[in-house]
Amino acid sequence: MTEPRAAPLPLDEDRVDVWLTALGAVEHDLLSSYVRLLSAAERERWRRFLVRHAADQYLTGRALLRTTLSRYAPVPEDAWVFETNAYGCPYVAEPAALRDLRFNLSHTEGLVACAVTLRGDVGVDVENTGREVDPLALAPTVFAAPEVRDLAATPPEARRQRFFAYWTLKEAYIKARGMGISLALGGFWFELDGPAPRIHFSDLCPDREERWHVWRWQPTPSHALALAVATPSGRAPRLVVRWVVPTLPASAIAEGRGDDAGGRPALR
Ligand SMILES: CC(C)(COP(=O)(O)OP(=O)(O)OC[C@H]1O[C@@H](n2cnc3c(N)ncnc32)[C@H](O)[C@@H]1OP(=O)(O)O)[C@@H](O)C(=O)NCCC(=O)NCCS
Repeated sequence: MTEPRAAPLPLDEDRVDVWLTALGAVEHDLLSSYVRLLSAAERERWRRFLVRHAADQYLTGRALLRTTLSRYAPVPEDAWVFETNAYGCPYVAEPAALRDLRFNLSHTEGLVACAVTLRGDVGVDVENTGREVDPLALAPTVFAAPEVRDLAATPPEARRQRFFAYWTLKEAYIKARGMGISLALGGFWFELDGPAPRIHFSDLCPDREERWHVWRWQPTPSHALALAVATPSGRAPRLVVRWVVPTLPASAIAEGRGDDAGGRPALR
């Protein structure tokens, strides 16, 4: 359950690391212990979840984020302070000297992902592809015209996967911009056929295509993942992907910060 602190991992502007946690791999006691890492505000938010799987996803996301950032800098897991921009995008506020450590988090049923890079813009999205959706009904409300047309032309048996490919890519981009759905979802679109997805923009969402490096893959048979990165240099970053179960450092256990129950009401 504990692990000694390792030497900080190297990270540079031309690299992006993606850390993945399978929620099913986190045992109950370990999950409960993550509460110790939360700030007062995070605890408050965690307590307010009414549905257990949403609370667990949030808690695991926070544990993955805090333990991951502490791999890159000698900062205790519970010492990171986050703030959010006007659109709710979190960033490192303290230590102020580490604000260039850029991250993005995504969670869905069964999976949490955290992407980290230095100084660039990064967005990640994971979706459980088993969830109930009607791709043809939803597409015109969230996709651009070329994506809607492509989806309609896709054979029904392949449509669900293609829908989630577009969905995760679009989410990864708007998350990398830090602006969420305030961006015009119809103002940019992806081309999926080719060695890697390519992004295109219209005047509704002005941006430069050459800035963006995007990936998509299926980390498990029931999950889709997409990643969008704009590096300061414009060069394509190296991508490193790792599966991990967040573990608490010995110091957090010894100091026993907070109580595991956190005073949260019983969840469904
Ligand atoms: C909030 C939003 C950024 C992501 O929501 P989501 O896909 O439901 O959730 P994810 O699990 O992928 O991401 C949530 C995490 O993104 C981060 N986040 C929140 N706002 C963000 C923003 N504006 N930019 C980047 N990241 C943001 C947070 O870390 C959050 O996790 P936390 O609440 O545990 O801290 C936004 O894209 C949204 O509201 N999406 C709605 C869904 C939609 O209509 N999508 C259209 C797809 S084409």
